[in-house]
Amino acid sequence: MAIVTAVLHRGVVDSDEPILCADDLGVLRGDGVFETINVREGRAFLLDAHLDRMANSARRMEFELPDKAELAGLAEQALAAWRERESGEGALRLIATRGREHGGPPTVYATIDPVPRERILPRRDGLKVVTASLGVNADARGEAPWLLGGVKALSYATQMAVTRWAKSQGADDALWVSADGYALEGPTSSLLWLDGDQLCTTPVSSGILPGTTSAHLMERASKIGLEAVERLVTVESLLEMDGAWLTSSVRGVAFITSIDGREVSQRPGVTAELDKLAGFEVPS
Ligand SMILES: Cc1ncc(COP(=O)(O)O)c(C=O)c1O
Repeated sequence: MAIVTAVLHRGVVDSDEPILCADDLGVLRGDGVFETINVREGRAFLLDAHLDRMANSARRMEFELPDKAELAGLAEQALAAWRERESGEGALRLIATRGREHGGPPTVYATIDPVPRERILPRRDGLKVVTASLGVNADARGEAPWLLGGVKALSYATQMAVTRWAKSQGADDALWVSADGYALEGPTSSLLWLDGDQLCTTPVSSGILPGTTSAHLMERASKIGLEAVERLVTVESLLEMDGAWLTSSVRGVAFITSIDGREVSQRPGVTAELDKLAGFEVPS
């Protein structure tokens, strides 16, 4: 059960209270958008960037979201209730579905949960990943907007399926690879790698979700003497790099220890610098 639930125009409600109708398109078709946001010291980290991405996702899915100020207000209602109850790291979800099947406004609500320790242990221990084919070339999603590249839609069944598959292979997570051999992103994370003094990530033109955490790190790369570069990388080249990471709002910065059982080396100290740039605490 979420610690806090808040509904647009209603405010904070009991988390046991039903808030969706049976014909909500979010449930029937995964037809909606969402954001998951890191909560630290009672505040939502990078809220503005998440609200911008959410607005873009809804625009791409052709439904109207309440404006940014209203969504920020909803987030703040949930955060105020959270601050009264909890002080640790949290995950704020903002959810907006297209609404009910026969019309009406979008269904919009927020929840906040504590972040379980196992979700942040990869900040300390890293991740073993296995590659999984996305089944399309790196340039396919740009030409086929209905594949919803770059959209954070509620339909995450494929992302959950590939994560389960990766775990069944003894790995911690998957790494999506395009049909033409490029490493793109994790099912719920962005890919970053270090090539000499270049901090690199996948271009948005490949249909990945533009990560708020990776963007924050790329924008600040020069502070740790690195140049930010967007480009494609093959899995083979990734294995030769000076470090590779999966980043996301809740997991933070997790270094990749191996890909398909082959070790990925890491220049000492860089993970700690990236954690510091984004203010992630590493569990002991
Ligand atoms: C497919 C995908 N890529 C990247 C990310 C990382 O995004 P952010 O850093 O904004 O959490 C996520 C987050 O859930 C994701 O689902």
